[in-house]
Parts: sequence; C-alpha cells; structure tokens
Amino acid sequence: MVNQENKKPKSEREQDRQKKWEKLGFDTQLISAGEDPYPETSHSLRTPIYATKSYVYDSLTQLVKNHYYYSRTENPTLYALDKKLATLHKGEAGLSVASGMAAIHLACMSVLQERVERLRPRKVNNLYPQNHPNEIPIIVTHKNQYTGTYRLITNIYPQMGIETRKVNLNNLDEVKDAIDEQTKLLFIETPANPTVDIIDIKACSKLIHDNGGKCIVDNTWASPAIQKPLTLGADLVVESLTKYINGHGDCLGGAIIGPKKELRDIRYYWLETQGAVLSPFNAWLILRGIHTLGMRMKRHSSNAMEIAQFLNFHDKVKTTVYPGLESHPAHEIAKKQMNDFGGMIGFELHSVDECNKFIELLDQIKVGVSLGDVTSLIEYTSLMTGIDLASWERRSMNISDTHFRLSVGLEDPKDLIDDLEDALNQL
Ligand SMILES: Cc1ncc(COP(=O)(O)O)c(C=O)c1O
Repeated sequence: MVNQENKKPKSEREQDRQKKWEKLGFDTQLISAGEDPYPETSHSLRTPIYATKSYVYDSLTQLVKNHYYYSRTENPTLYALDKKLATLHKGEAGLSVASGMAAIHLACMSVLQERVERLRPRKVNNLYPQNHPNEIPIIVTHKNQYTGTYRLITNIYPQMGIETRKVNLNNLDEVKDAIDEQTKLLFIETPANPTVDIIDIKACSKLIHDNGGKCIVDNTWASPAIQKPLTLGADLVVESLTKYINGHGDCLGGAIIGPKKELRDIRYYWLETQGAVLSPFNAWLILRGIHTLGMRMKRHSSNAMEIAQFLNFHDKVKTTVYPGLESHPAHEIAKKQMNDFGGMIGFELHSVDECNKFIELLDQIKVGVSLGDVTSLIEYTSLMTGIDLASWERRSMNISDTHFRLSVGLEDPKDLIDDLEDALNQL
C-alpha cells in the first residue's frame, strides 16, 4: 500500500493526507494534521526547524515542479503549521505569518484592495480610490475591539482611502443600515477585546453576504478549539497564534485560514510583497504548543467559569462580564456558536483608588499585557492596552476607568481565587 501511495503524484498524496486528517477527532488533529507523515524525506517524529532562505535543485525542471522556492512564501516547518491550522478550522488552506496584526492587515488588504498584476504608469492614478468617490471601499466593524486593530481600521485605513464605519454589531438593524453596495468587508472580533462582547457570526455574515461583501472573523480569544467561524459563514478567519494557539507566551505569530484561492493570493501577492513572515523557529514553538490546545482550552474555560462566578458575587466587584454567565447580554449567542466559554473575563471595581491598590496586592496573577498563556495575566485596561485611546474613545467602547481584563491561566483555580479574594478583601 505504501508503494502504491508513493507512485501517486505529490498533489494527490497531499489531498489524500488532508482527507485523512479531516476525518480525525480534534485532539488527534492537533497532534497529527500537517505532521503525519512528515517530512517525507526523514524519519523524525517531530517536525524539524528548516532554517533556510533558499531551496536548491539539480535542474530547472525540478525547480519548477517543486513548490519550495524562497522562504518568504514557503518553508517546510511553516507548511506543517499551515496544514494543521486549515484542518482545525475546517478550511481549505492556512497561512501562518509573523503576528496576529500582520494576519489582520494582510487579510483585510486582500479583501479591500485590488490585486494589481502589472502596472502601467498611466494607470497609477486609478489606484487612488480618493479620486473616485464611487469606488471608496468601506469596512464595517464593531465599535470596540483590540486596540491594535482599532488603530489600523480607524486611523490608518482612512488615510489609504478606505472608509471605516463603526457600529454596534450586536444591533443587527444598525449593521444592516451601515452596509451598502460599496461595503466590501465586515470585520468581526468575537469574543471582543477587552470588553468580552460576543458577536453573532452567522447573522452578521449573512447580512454582508446578502450585499456581496466578505466577512473576516478574528478568532483569537476563542481559538479553533471552541469556535470555528468558517463553519458559521465567515469567509476568512484570522488568529493571533501568540495567544492560546501557542499558549506558552514565548513567541509571536499569526494566521489566516480560508479558501485555497484566496489564501494563494494572500501568500503569493500580499505576503510576498509585504514580507511579514513567521520565522521557522517560532513556527516550531507554535507547533509544539498547539498539540495541547484542546486540553488547555477546557482548563482555561473551567478555571474562568469558577473565577467569574466568584467575582460576580464579591461586593468589591461592580460588574463581571464572562460569556458563560447567564448575565452576559449575549450568553445565548455564545452557547450557540462556541463549544465552551474560554478564558477571558472583564470586570470593574468601584473606584480608581481601589484599582491601583488591587493591582499591587495580587501575587499569583501577573500584571502584564497579552493573554492566552499558561500563566494568568491581568491588565488594568485604561493604563495598559487602552493607553493610546482618548478618554472619549474609551467611553465609546464601554471601557471604564475601573476596568480589568483577566486572562485566566492553567494554575489551580483555588490558588487564583485565593489571590483575588486576598486582594479584594484588603480594599
Ligand atoms: C483579539 C486580538 N487580535 C489580534 C491581536 C494581535 O496579535 P499579535 O500580538 O500577535 O499581533 C490581539 C492582541 O492582543 C488580540 O487580542
């Protein structure tokens, strides 16, 4: 059987492998997809780090036949990760890149901008949509999201001739009103950073598809272990691999998952020219981390549920927002589109003085930006990731001056609750 398989052309062997991975359970996919059997040329159990920029061949025929050419567009270590991410998301193809922000920007560009193959100088002016008011591409997005994405969409894209419309994506009438025939993209982040808003992916993607646009979902706060946006109607998914997917807080990475044709364009046009490439070493770290994603997300979710319930009833806590609590305004949507509720909690105390004191009293829970780690991390939103926002922007995003974002890690839940209780009781 092995011999017969070896006789098949490479593309057919790849398709067979992909079909095999698709049939596996999620935890088996985490371990095997993209890596079994891998690589075809050695017997290494683990995917090696291919530290190379070029690939060399004996003849031009061989070079043309082989898809490895230059590491800005393909590398065997990244190939394993790309295949695994595509399988986990039930997508046709995946592309890992240097960071979550790189993934967001490349995915958005691929939808918002024209791909220009060969440019004649006299056609350059056609590319500035500012000159053609009827051709301004429009992006519709939620009023609040990760500050990096907010800045990109609010401050940078309008300078590139793209119009941004920010609405409350929880209000479907508002979404419908914001979408017109020039709206090319609906960008969703769910759960949304830092307020843990939950957006209905199925309902929103239907609205944009009815108008001929595309839907991108940033799935970073869920990971494919608990939410698969492509199965809910999204056209492209982006992930910050820096967070849950790697899970160990030791490198940055990002990914885009979606249809083969779009991903080919993003890889060989947008990534090739913009160059936000993931290093093979970081791909290897992420491959190592991802094997345990399923187990980790279960523990993140159960720890977070216990902690959210504790915070919800503590009189020093003003509000607690967690999708697993019935009090979350979109709890029913979360139940519908997520397998579990994840590890992210938003909460507020009563005063700024108490916030400052609270931070200093924590011991086990570390104060720092980022999330999705084995270690619990807390941020005081207005002074950390929210520092670049004007106070009116924070208000419009429902980020109060007493807001905290807690990324619940994998420690014993009792130790985390003891830490929070100790600090809260001293306020
Ligand atoms: C939802 C979300 N998307 C994207 C990013 C950016 O990811 P990266 O830091 O890998 O660029 C973050 C970072 O916190 C995030 O929370």
